[in-house]
Amino acid sequence: MSFPLYAPAEEHDMLRETVRALADEKIAPRAAEADEAEEFPWDVYKALVASDLHAIHVPEAYGGAGGDALAAVIVIEEVARACASSSLIPAVNKLGTVPIMLSASEELKQQYLPAVARGDAMFSYALSEPEAGSDAAAMKTRAVLDGDHYVLNGTKMWITNAGVSEYYTVMAVTDPSAGARGISAFVVEKSDEGVSFGPKERKLGIKASPTRQVILEDVRIPESRMIGAPGTGFKTALATLDHTRVTIAAQALGIAQGALDYAVGYVKERKQFGKAVADFQGVQFMLADMAMKLEAARQLTYHAAAKSERAMKGEPQKDLTFLSSAAKCAASDAAMEITVDAVQMLGGYGYTKDFPVERMMRDAKITQIYEGTNQIQRMVMARQLLK
Ligand code: CAA
Ligand code: FAD
Repeated sequence: MSFPLYAPAEEHDMLRETVRALADEKIAPRAAEADEAEEFPWDVYKALVASDLHAIHVPEAYGGAGGDALAAVIVIEEVARACASSSLIPAVNKLGTVPIMLSASEELKQQYLPAVARGDAMFSYALSEPEAGSDAAAMKTRAVLDGDHYVLNGTKMWITNAGVSEYYTVMAVTDPSAGARGISAFVVEKSDEGVSFGPKERKLGIKASPTRQVILEDVRIPESRMIGAPGTGFKTALATLDHTRVTIAAQALGIAQGALDYAVGYVKERKQFGKAVADFQGVQFMLADMAMKLEAARQLTYHAAAKSERAMKGEPQKDLTFLSSAAKCAASDAAMEITVDAVQMLGGYGYTKDFPVERMMRDAKITQIYEGTNQIQRMVMARQLLK
């Protein structure tokens, strides 16, 4: 009997080399200034599009590269190693379009996926609201049927890449008496009359990725823009997160790898007490712990990605909800610890903007908060264990 090796395929390794080369050449040199200027890096977007890495998950049938879930993880990981903000380009394109891939009509898939695959449009995902974050089902945004159109009113909060994305998956209440079963999902376009954006949030990290409110005022859209059937929007939203929490895990891994790599290089050069600080066992043990936590989180993330891919291919995976939450939680907690330790490895220099670990530590924090805080991930995992 022959068993396939438990490892990423050769194609995944080749993809990693390609993304790393692009990230080293075109993304890393821009990361500090994009952070400082708090500007979306359009040049990085164009470079990712030119290499077909901006939305690698879109299936070939819709003009995409047809990368599997592990391929998307590797792209996001390697881009995040250089610049966490830029890694939200492939990550949020996936987050915005998975609801369509999972639940939309063929007509909607044909209408929206090819533009994302070509790089003509980005796609964001609008679930959260000012008063409904962790308790997402408490949303207030309404969609009311009027003839063959829905009219949307409400405010979506914290929307990543709002303003730079052309398209938005928006969850809204169509039946207020039905709770989570009264929520539906829609595609809203930036150019729809009545769509506007709040000012950019002033954030601790991922500063080159705009986060803004999406304000919907009497936005009239054709009924055909509903994703799936009425009342299935919340399930679609959560089923999407089962796939995309894995991509936030990937972002966390990339940030942590960037910080670890920088710290390793630094301690070999920096001399105190007449030798490289890397020669001190106290420093070596910290580095070993950082690398160990990172590799543990990576294996969990790749395992979850394999499950995500099988589920996408139509083989339901009972443990995907648990594993995607576990991967996101483990990788983001690891990233926070590793980036804090990387700053420590650089001493006072690590605390300044002259070295990248300061930015990486700020960027790592968001991975413990978005796509569900790590308290919510623990709640999701416990519910899976206890049900
Ligand atoms: N897949 C499909 N359906 C699911 C599901 C899943 N993983 N989990 C639950 N459901 C279904 C349930 O079966 C239930 O349906 P029925 O009533 O028909 O049985 C329905 O969804 C409601 O489920 P719950 O009763 O469990 O819902 P809840 O309100 O108690 O809690 C929650 C759900 C897990 C707390 C959820 O609200 C949640 O994940 N909150 C966190 C919010 C979040 O992650 N936001 C991310 C925003 S995106 C982002 O941040 C962007 C970025 O990173 C760039
Ligand atoms: P709250 O829900 O108010 O939580 C406050 C605190 O209470 C947290 O510590 C939380 O863990 C804790 N808590 C809440 N409920 C429980 C519980 N049951 N048990 C234990 N602890 C609990 N959303 C989108 O829809 N699309 C996006 O693109 C997007 N991008 C984002 C980008 C950024 C930079 C940020 C900051 C957020 C983004 N979000 C997005 C929203 C994000 O998903 C929410 O911020 C997150 O889900 C938490 O919601 P909240 O901020 O309202 O916190």
